[in-house]
Amino acid sequence: MALFLDSSDPKETREIFSWGVVSGVTTNPLIISREAPDADLKERILEVVAVSTGHVSVELTTETEREMLDEALGYWDWDRSRICVKVPFTETGLKVLKQLAEKSVPTNVTCMMSFNQAYLAALAGATYVSIFSGRVKDMGYDVRPIVRETRAILDREGLPSKIIVGSVRHMMDVNEALIDGAHIVTVPPPILRKMLWNPRTDTTIAEFNDAWKNRKKK
Ligand code: E4P
Repeated sequence: MALFLDSSDPKETREIFSWGVVSGVTTNPLIISREAPDADLKERILEVVAVSTGHVSVELTTETEREMLDEALGYWDWDRSRICVKVPFTETGLKVLKQLAEKSVPTNVTCMMSFNQAYLAALAGATYVSIFSGRVKDMGYDVRPIVRETRAILDREGLPSKIIVGSVRHMMDVNEALIDGAHIVTVPPPILRKMLWNPRTDTTIAEFNDAWKNRKKK
């Protein structure tokens, strides 16, 4: 099991990688539009690559097979050892995925809300299959059986795709995804920071440090 960082911010990425708990990065067009609307995409992604380790996912924004394939190969060329192409799950996306898999391009199939979508992406050769926890819950469905059943079928059929649970809104989304069998959870910086914190930990550390400072030497 592993945690990835769901962000395109190089400063946050550098800081959070220094904790030693994350081993990859996911971005998407919405995250980048919010964090840095004027940024040059290639420059920003390569800045993130420079301060992280593991795969950095970059999502396709074109919609025809030819355009998506060209866009994907362009991103991969930025750094073949680190870039993972995020392919939106559509019928065209599957065709593109198959061709990228044949060229051994790492892929993260994204925006998936169901077991059947994740299974199809795994069959077509996805490196990662991304299930969107928060968005499934927004529709009023339970994401937990989707993650559990996807993990069970990948294991049973020996499919090498790894499950990423994304669209994380609360700490409990992270805990549940890991318990349910996600290989990876991609977590936004504010949720990772909340995972650090417990009021009883803070008061306990303060109690110990105060005792040390105020000890009466014999
Ligand atoms: C994951 O890869 C996605 O980038 C992200 O988690 C989507 O989250 P959202 O539903 O909050 O937009």
